[in-house]
Formats: sequence, C-alpha cells, structure tokens
Amino acid sequence: MSVATVSVPPGTVESDLPALLAEPAAALRRGGLVAFPTETVYGLGSDAMNRAAVARAYRAKKRPADNPVIVHLPHLSWLDRIAEEVGPTARRLAEEYWPGPLTLVLTARDDVPRETTGGLPTIAVRVPAHPLARCLIETAGTPVAAPSANVSGRPSPTIAAHVLADLDRRIDWIVDGGACAVGIESTVVDVRTDRPVVLREGIVTREMLGAGSSADQRPGAAVSPGTRHTHYRPDARVIVAPMTRGAALAERLSQRHSVGLVAPEAEEGQRAVTVLARPLGATELGRVLYGALRDADRLGLDVVVVEAVPEDGVGRAVMDRLYRAAGLTDR
Ligand code: TXA
Ligand code: MG
Repeated sequence: MSVATVSVPPGTVESDLPALLAEPAAALRRGGLVAFPTETVYGLGSDAMNRAAVARAYRAKKRPADNPVIVHLPHLSWLDRIAEEVGPTARRLAEEYWPGPLTLVLTARDDVPRETTGGLPTIAVRVPAHPLARCLIETAGTPVAAPSANVSGRPSPTIAAHVLADLDRRIDWIVDGGACAVGIESTVVDVRTDRPVVLREGIVTREMLGAGSSADQRPGAAVSPGTRHTHYRPDARVIVAPMTRGAALAERLSQRHSVGLVAPEAEEGQRAVTVLARPLGATELGRVLYGALRDADRLGLDVVVVEAVPEDGVGRAVMDRLYRAAGLTDR
C-alpha cells in the first residue's frame, strides 16, 4: 500500500477525531487529495476553492471535465461560502435532511472556481451525516469537493479497499472508516424553484421531498450532467432477474459461464454459482450492490445475476443503479 492511511474504527469517541484527522486535513489544505467515508459512498476530497486541487482530482478519477462535483460542508452555516440566493425550498430541505444523503443544487457564488462547478452557474452541495467526513472538512477549514472515490464509470466505493483498488498512487490519503451505511450515492435535487426536481434518485425519496423527477419533466428541464455518462459498470456482464427468479436464472447461465448471484434466496452450494450477497429488500440491496459488482470482477466472473426489487421508494434509487450497471441506461 503506498497511499497514507488513517483507520478510524466505528465507535471512536468524537472528541478524538480532530487529532486523528489532523494530517489528512492538512493535506487537503495544501491542495492534496484525500479519500474519506460518507454515509453513502467514499468521496475523493479536494479543496473546493483551489482550482488546481480540484483539477487534480478530475485527473485522478479520469472524470470528464463537464461533470461537476458535489461540495461537502460540515454545517448548514457554511452554505453562504458556496451558494447564493438560497430560497425557502432549499432552506426547508436543508434544515430537514442535513446532515444526510441529500444534495441540493443551488446558484453558485462567483468566487467558486469553474473547475468545481464544471462551468455551470449552479453548485451541488451537501452536509454528509458521517462524523469522520464532517470532522475532516471542519478541521481542513474549507469546503471540500468530493465526487465518489472511484475511477469514472466504475461502481462507487463502499469500503476503503475499493478506493485503493481504483486510486492507489493517484491520491495522497485514505481515511478508512469501514463500510458505508447507505451504499448508494445521495439524492440530487434542484431546489432553485418552488417545486424541487430530483436529478438523481437516492434513499431520500421523491415522495419524502414532495418532488418531481427530471425524467418526467417539461422539455428543457435541467438534468444531472453525471447521468449522461456511463456509470457503475463492472467488467462482468450484469443481468437483472425478475423477482424470485434469480437463483434459477443463475443456475441456467452457469452451464456456459462463471456466474455470481445477488438474491435473497440464493443458496450456498448451488452448482457453479458464486453467491455474492443475499440482501433482503431494497435498502439492503443498495448497501451491498457495488461491493458485489466489484467482487465479481475480483473473482473474474463472466456474469452477475442480480434479482430485482420493487421500484418504489428506495427501490427506485437502487434499481436505477442496477439498470445502469446492466447497461440499460435508457430506462
Ligand atoms: O453520495 C454522494 O453524493 C457521493 C458522496 C461522496 O458524497 N458523491 C457523489 O459524487 O456521488 P459524484 O461526483 O460521483 O456525483 C455527483 C452527481 C453527478 O451526477 C453530477 O452530475 C451531479 O451530482 N451534479 C453535480 N453538480 C451539479 C449541478 N450543478 N447541477 C446538476 N447536477 C450536478
Ligand atoms: Mg460518482
């Protein structure tokens, strides 16, 4: 391992965190790249106000320059450093859901570098719920730009080993806080008008926000630039099985291919099928999906069969990621 790592076991007393995170926080201040856990997925942090640092993060991730990043803050009180014209809808949602897995798209302040905004007049902002993330940013003393800490197009990382697999030698530090609780990325919502518009689904659902979706918007509505790009794809072919049918489909495919299975009723010992995870329901599938896709590649499997969950609430967010992983991006 060449990247400097600080491991912080869950349950570490919060008052010990600033000292533990002093070095990675100093690296951020100097323009370094620091991967850190959030409650959703690991982020690749850089000083959001330092254009060279943000540009370096794009290069490390091989991210297209037109896909802007999310700026992470430790408190709602920092919002004015980044955004302006914060209207009542934005205030209400920030107060209700921060800290948490909700990203608000707002009007960017003029002094936010264009490397951070991707050249847009808007800025995506969130206050993560993970204590390590908040303490790291607060100690660094600057807003932190953090896309997911994967090479562009690969599944987002949910443990430090995933970050290392993609970005070792390309970044300066990893803060290892164990597995992410949510496992899929935050909900992204445009809150510049009265009715919030969901640009990327997440565990804070449309129903919770009283929001519309960019998918069923009037023509010309904003879409999240990131949703244009290929996402979350492992090397193995991903096949979505109908509910209750995963095990049978995997068994059949295993006559010709090496097959991994993600399904609640998957049984160990099924001939030639590697059980990658047995999630019960959408929330649990969200938590294990990216790890299972990465495990399939690590094991050199040809195919991963993932059993679908009902497409409502959190299920819609998880199925969105699964369809993309399967290359069904027109959904
Ligand atoms: O949960 C998360 O959001 C994670 C953790 C690390 O916080 N971060 C994350 O970042 O998923 P990233 O860069 O992988 O995804 C950011 C998404 C992309 O789809 C991007 O297009 C969208 O947010 N986005 C960023 N700025 C935007 C803007 N100004 N307007 C619309 N969409 C924006
Ligand atoms: Mg990403």
